[in-house]
Amino acid sequence: MEKLFRYLESEYRKKTGKSAALFRRASRVMVHGGSHSLRLWKPYPFFPAFASGAEVVDVDGNHYLDYWQGHYANILGHNPEVIRRSVEPHFRHGTFHTGFETLSQVELAERLLASLGRRGLRVRFTTSGTLASTYAVMLAMGHTGRRLILKVGGGWHGASPYLLKGVKFHPGAGFQASDSAGVPSALSRQVLITRFNDCQQLSDMFKKYGRRLAAFILEPFIGVGGFLFCSREYLELARRLASHYGTVLIFDEIISGFRFCASGLQKTYGLEPDISLFGKLIGGGQAVAAVVGKKEVMEGCEPSGPGSRRVHFEGGTFSSHEEYMRAGLAMLDYLEKNQDRVYPYLGQQAERLRRGIEKVFREEGLEAVCTGDGNELVRDSSFFMVNFPKKKNWYRRPEDIWNPERSEVALREEALKLALLVNGVHVVHGGGCLSTAHTPEDIGRTIEAYAAAARIFRRYL
Ligand SMILES: Cc1ncc(COP(=O)(O)O)c(C=O)c1O
Repeated sequence: MEKLFRYLESEYRKKTGKSAALFRRASRVMVHGGSHSLRLWKPYPFFPAFASGAEVVDVDGNHYLDYWQGHYANILGHNPEVIRRSVEPHFRHGTFHTGFETLSQVELAERLLASLGRRGLRVRFTTSGTLASTYAVMLAMGHTGRRLILKVGGGWHGASPYLLKGVKFHPGAGFQASDSAGVPSALSRQVLITRFNDCQQLSDMFKKYGRRLAAFILEPFIGVGGFLFCSREYLELARRLASHYGTVLIFDEIISGFRFCASGLQKTYGLEPDISLFGKLIGGGQAVAAVVGKKEVMEGCEPSGPGSRRVHFEGGTFSSHEEYMRAGLAMLDYLEKNQDRVYPYLGQQAERLRRGIEKVFREEGLEAVCTGDGNELVRDSSFFMVNFPKKKNWYRRPEDIWNPERSEVALREEALKLALLVNGVHVVHGGGCLSTAHTPEDIGRTIEAYAAAARIFRRYL
C-alpha cells in the first residue's frame, strides 16, 4: 500500500505545483490550511480557478470532472446559468444584506410546503444544516420537556454539539463514542445511538427509553454513513414508535431533500415526520437551511411561546437574505418544472456509472462494490460510493462501510482519491453525486478514469 501512496502522491505533486504553493501559504494563516476537513485531503488540496457545470479547473490548469459538486448541493452543476439568470436582475436593485424579513423567503417557504403537500406546517430559515439540526433538537426538547436524543450510528447532522456522537467508526467502540472535544460529557450521555435500518434494535431502544426520548433524528438516505436508503419498514416503524411514545421524529433531509424527486424523501415514503430539515440544494448554491415542522412544535420558538420552554431559534444575521432566497426559489422552480427529465436522467446515468465502475475493477481482478443504488421506492438515485470489501461484505450499514476490518477504508478514502485526481476526476469517499451537467460522455470518461485507477492499484498492490 505504501508504494501505491508514494507513486500517487508524486504524480499528483507533478501536476499541482501552484496549488502546493498556495497550500503552504494557507497553512501559515489557517488551521490545517482551510475551513473543512473534507476539503483538505492529503498531501494538499488543489485550489480551483474556475468551475462550470460538471467541471472544475484548478490554478495549475488541470481539468477535473467533479462529483463533490459543492458538498452535493449543486444538482445542476457548478454556477448554473438558470440560477444566475434569475438572480442577476435582483442585483440591479441591490441584493446585499439588509437585515429585514424578505418577501422572497415567504415565497420560498410557500414553495417548500407546497412540494411536501402537507398542512399545518411552519418554516424557519437559517444559514447552515448544523444550525438547523441544533435548533430542531432544541425544539424537540422544549416541546417534550425531555432530555434524551436518539440518533443513528454513522449519521452526520453537522457539527452540532448535540449530535457529535456516533459519527465516526472507532475500532473497538464502533459508533458509540463521542467525536469532538468541547462537548460536555453530560450532554454526550444524553445522546443514544441505534444501528441504521435495524428494526429490532430500534424497538428495543424505544421500549427502554421511549418515555424519556425528546427526539429521534435520522437521515432517510444516510449520506456519509454510506449512501444507503432506509427501508420502508424501518421508517414506518420509526414513525409508529415516535407517535406512541410522544417523541419528536426528525427527518434530516439536508442531502435527500429535492435530490431524488422535487420534494423530500418523506413524500416518496408517504411519511410525515414532526420536523424536517432541508439545506444544501434548497439555497440554489447559497447558504440556506430550513427547519420545517408541525405548527405545535415550531411554536416553541415564538416569543409568546410557553414560558421557560421557549426556544431561542433566531435564524441568524444572514437568514432571510434576499439573494439566497432568490437563488433557492430559482432552484426549486427549475426542479419542479423539469422533474420528469432531471431525476430519471440522473438515475440512469448514475446506474450506468455504478455498474461501469464495478466492471472495470473486476476486469483488473479487484472487487469494488458501489453503494447508492435506489430501492423499490426510490428509482432515481444520483449517488455512488465505491467500496473495496475485505471479506464477503454486503454494505447494508455504516458499520460495513467504515469498519477497516470489513472494508479497505484507506484505499477508498486516500488512494482512490489521488488515483482519480491524477486521471482528471474529483471524488469524496470514493464517489459522490451526479449533476444534470454531467453528460453521458462525461460518465464514459469517468468510467475510463476508474479503469486507469484500477490498473494503478493492480500494479502497486
Ligand atoms: C445529512 C446532513 N445533515 C446536516 C449537515 C450539516 O450541514 P452544514 O454543512 O450546512 O452545516 C450535512 C452536511 O453535510 C448533512 O449531510
